[in-house]
Amino acid sequence: MNNTKLRRLFENNRVWATDILKREPEFFMELSAIQTPKYLWIGCSDSRVPANQITGLKPGEVFVHRNVGNLVVHTDLNCLSVLQYAIDVLKVEDVLVVGHYGCGGIKAALENTSLGLIDNWLRHIQDVRERHAFLFNSVTEFNAQWKLLCELNVIEQVRNIARTTIVEHAWKRSQDLTLHGCVYGLDNGMLQNLNISLDSNVKIDDMVRASVNDVYDRYVTKVGI
Ligand code: CO
Repeated sequence: MNNTKLRRLFENNRVWATDILKREPEFFMELSAIQTPKYLWIGCSDSRVPANQITGLKPGEVFVHRNVGNLVVHTDLNCLSVLQYAIDVLKVEDVLVVGHYGCGGIKAALENTSLGLIDNWLRHIQDVRERHAFLFNSVTEFNAQWKLLCELNVIEQVRNIARTTIVEHAWKRSQDLTLHGCVYGLDNGMLQNLNISLDSNVKIDDMVRASVNDVYDRYVTKVGI
């Protein structure tokens, strides 16, 4: 390995693995035999939002899927496969959609910036904004709109997960499974629960509406309308 930047990664890795082995000699042996994560994390690809570090979870404790804008698109076989494996095989009990403030994908969608192929992916975020257009008429300051769309996008992705056949079937067979929506603050490191928790096929739209109303109350109060 003659690439200095890469060499640093391998050196870090050796230090990390050695350190863990010193404290827990059986750690990797046990982990290589089986993984039993209790959580599925669906987050943004942003390098500043690492699932394990933020939540203090060790390898083996959280199953992770990340893409730009933490989207769950009903025809995305990649995301659906992760979801299906996590729920049907690993039997995770909690699925977290984790958005983050300061998301570049959300900003590009909001500003209608053209970045290439990814514009088509970000179109799903613009659909969220259009779905809640009335909110964006009330909240006009750009940074507030940016945060608002980060939150609404998470809520809509939780709804999307609830409407997959994977989750519908899990709930029909009474599997213990709850969907959550959270948003992470890049500037303070804090994870905030958006208080949307879905654990059955009943009243999904009512729960989503309540969460959107909660967001609306906070933002409209914040901007003093
Ligand atoms: Co992002």
